[in-house]
Amino acid sequence: VKGLYLVRHGETTWNAEQRIGGDPLLNDHGNCQARAMAEHLKSLPLGFIFTSSKQRSRQMAEPLLCARPEARHMVIKEFDEIHAGICEGMTYEEMRRTLPQEFAARSADKYQYTYPGGESYATLQSRVDRGLKKALWIAGVSQNICIVGHQAVNRAILAQFLFRRQQDVPYINIPQEKYYHIVSVQEKKVVELLGY
Ligand code: F6P
Repeated sequence: VKGLYLVRHGETTWNAEQRIGGDPLLNDHGNCQARAMAEHLKSLPLGFIFTSSKQRSRQMAEPLLCARPEARHMVIKEFDEIHAGICEGMTYEEMRRTLPQEFAARSADKYQYTYPGGESYATLQSRVDRGLKKALWIAGVSQNICIVGHQAVNRAILAQFLFRRQQDVPYINIPQEKYYHIVSVQEKKVVELLGY
């Protein structure tokens, strides 16, 4: 792949309430962010736009797909956000109050911690790696691609390009209104964080 544009979806109704997981839609602010992102990236020749199967990821990609109709859209389910098991739909505060031991265990080792009935960053990493391999293989060497992912998923993707200790991966900054551009320069991968 020539260049990888790694975007996080815009704000959802649940982000605004600090709620974990689920399949919420973008709110008005999130839709504005999707339009701003498309406006910013629309002059790029893009071969593929990969999203997860979640509504917020697909909704984020819509304005960009309208602006670049030649770009192909493909859903890669391996890019779905980390599954939080019994904590899906809770706020972090509700988790702290009702499941204090789980909350403490996650704070102590966020990378290895597995949500009951859900995933850990460690298990997420292997499925995201599978998804990334798939995307890179489908797109081939000469295309720019965009992946519209999620907070934990984008951390797992970046872990492939940044030198970070495993325990630091769950804390990589994945802001909304910014995206990572990953490009090869003289056989080195360069990663930059840019605003839109
Ligand atoms: O934006 C919310 C979210 O995508 C949740 O669905 C997910 O559980 C979380 O971010 C991942 O980030 P963290 O591991 O820091 O809670």
